[in-house]
Amino acid sequence: MKPLLQFGPTILLVFSCAAQTPDVIAQGQSRFLQDCAFCHGRDAGGGETGPDLTRSKLVADDVNGDKIGPVVRNGRPDKGMPRFTVSDSELASLVAFIHDRKKKAETRKGGRRGVDVADLQTGNVQAGLKYFNGAGGCSSCHSPTGDLAGVAKRYEGLKLEQRLLYPRGAKAKASVTLASGETITGELAYQDEFTIAVRDSSGRYRSWPVSAIKFTVDNPAEAHARLLEKYTDDDIHNLMAYLQTLR
Ligand code: HEC
Ligand code: HEC
Repeated sequence: MKPLLQFGPTILLVFSCAAQTPDVIAQGQSRFLQDCAFCHGRDAGGGETGPDLTRSKLVADDVNGDKIGPVVRNGRPDKGMPRFTVSDSELASLVAFIHDRKKKAETRKGGRRGVDVADLQTGNVQAGLKYFNGAGGCSSCHSPTGDLAGVAKRYEGLKLEQRLLYPRGAKAKASVTLASGETITGELAYQDEFTIAVRDSSGRYRSWPVSAIKFTVDNPAEAHARLLEKYTDDDIHNLMAYLQTLR
């Protein structure tokens, strides 16, 4: 277990010089989209499985990460908040991003949430179709008459948008090469800093210390996470309008 001692003078130093510059906030955003938005919403405004951080008392009381840091690093595993291993500077940027979101949410009445009913009502179907086949690159992986046929029937409204932003069912594939040269490929079954595990084609679970093997992971959900950084609000509105026609 990582002791709280990490929260010593170093981190305060990092905070005091890093401050909340746009660069630091942008770094925090990209990390947040990758690790946190899944539960807390794209804008930290809350999601189905994580509370709204912009209205959190803990965040309001936080000074330079002194409250947020321990929650991120220790998690609250029994309450559904996982623990994360983050460096001091990564944590500083996450904290800067969350405070920035809080400020923005407070200045905007209501505040845009990660998933917003407006997305369902204001889009343009044609523009969404164009984005799907063009700039969005969606058609390189999806087909409206194939895997996405009827997707709007399977997921109503905001559920559909959440699937778009954070597809969860996506199974990552991993390929592990042992010191002997043998290669095992299969579904990624577990991964952390020290361990990787694969369920091979026969369904057998096998795990290795990452230090002893070489591996690659192909995680299709990451394509969506990367896209998230490119979407504008208009793209989302239009895509949602288009996806709603796939019934
Ligand atoms: C799997 C879902 C999930 C993920 C991913 C997740 N959280 Fe959480 N988080 C939660 C839940 C659930 C709680 C509320 C726990 C509770 O009720 O005490 C929470 C609580 C918090 C709190 C405390 C809020 C409060 O008012 O007490 C902070 C801060 C926080 N999360 C930040 C983060 C950050 C930063 C990340 C990414 C590094 C992250 N979370 C990733 C689910 C998640
Ligand atoms: C690199 C490939 C790739 C790209 C590009 C991509 N997706 Fe996906 N998408 C996936 C995978 C993989 C899943 C997960 C499928 C699953 O969960 O069964 C998924 C899931 C989805 C889902 C949920 C479908 C379901 O049945 O749960 C939607 C909606 C979706 N994508 C829309 C889009 C849109 C819109 C774009 C373009 C902006 C896009 N995707 C770009 C690979 C991609």
